[in-house]
Amino acid sequence: MNTIPEMQAKLDALRQKPAVRILAMESSCDETAAAIIENGRKIVSSVIFSQADTHALYGGVVPEIASRAHVDACDRVVDQALKEADMALSDVDALAVTYGPGLVGALLTGVNCMKGLSYTSRIPLVPVNHIEGHVSANFLTTPDLEPPFLCLVVSGGHSHIVRVNDYADYTLLGQTVDDAAGEAFDKAARVLGLNYPGGPLLSRLAEGGDAHFLTLPHPHPDGKYDFSFSGLKTAFLNACHKMEQKGEELPRADLAASFEQAVVDTLCEKASLAMADFGLSTLCIAGGVSANRRLRQQLTELSRKQGFRLCMPELWLCTDNAAMIGSAAYYRMRKGELAQLELNAVPALSLC
Ligand code: KG4
Ligand code: ZN
Repeated sequence: MNTIPEMQAKLDALRQKPAVRILAMESSCDETAAAIIENGRKIVSSVIFSQADTHALYGGVVPEIASRAHVDACDRVVDQALKEADMALSDVDALAVTYGPGLVGALLTGVNCMKGLSYTSRIPLVPVNHIEGHVSANFLTTPDLEPPFLCLVVSGGHSHIVRVNDYADYTLLGQTVDDAAGEAFDKAARVLGLNYPGGPLLSRLAEGGDAHFLTLPHPHPDGKYDFSFSGLKTAFLNACHKMEQKGEELPRADLAASFEQAVVDTLCEKASLAMADFGLSTLCIAGGVSANRRLRQQLTELSRKQGFRLCMPELWLCTDNAAMIGSAAYYRMRKGELAQLELNAVPALSLC
């Protein structure tokens, strides 16, 4: 605990520094990643070690295997990020780490790795919310982006519409009442015989399919900007099982296209409604599902029709990475936020 006053003074001094370089780590699920980000906007280096191939053997993320793989990879990705940036640890101004939400063992690996590094190197550590990281991926892709704006966050574990009032200041407008969009994609993909992670594979299969093949329910949860994907997913699974029971061959591409279209329609409908109601000029998207081609196309059309600016992270910044954590950390750092030595993983951490 005696290091905290010294760290706080170091962190405060950074607010006057013209170029602040943050070494960030992300390990909330099945990617071990490290990156160095300058002033929240510029990617100096980025390294992502994906465990997806390992988990694909089991059809989904196995938490214990993920934790162990993070332990193996965390030192390596940090070293590699420094090497690619041609920097020594002593050139780093601050450290950052994802402390939630996510898998507890996976988060703990990154948190302990960065706490250890902070303690031994006397470099201040900034704790970061993973969802805030996803939102911040937009600052890396769109240099002139400034709050306020709305953000549609769609990942494997979350589906949110948030108002980004200011840097590190959010109002949650709506969220899923059951499954997350990415989770629904992954479950539908499994029925179509696709491996983990199913979302991108289902999307690729959908490219040659007829999106009007299957009509799926259009759920309307109570909250005006809330989502629901569970009914849609169940209707899809039932339709597939019925065809299988009749001995019919599944028209996989048509089914994939119909499912993808139904999810994208729901996301676009709520995003459109929120943009109309809140009178903001910019919509951002974030999270793994924001890499979806159909979603990006449909939102682009919507932005033209409705007259708002659409910002989308580069594809590789939609899924988990440490660059987005380094960007979020910069704005938290400017608010003087510092990790205490007691910093722990918070698996169910909320954004606001
Ligand atoms: O943000 P992310 O990398 O991890 C979480 O924080 O959850 O999101 C992963 C999710 C997975 O469910 C994956 O299937 C989905 O994003 N995903 C996609 C696409 N790329 C990733 N879903 C649909 N279309 C895609 N192109
Ligand atoms: Zn994520």
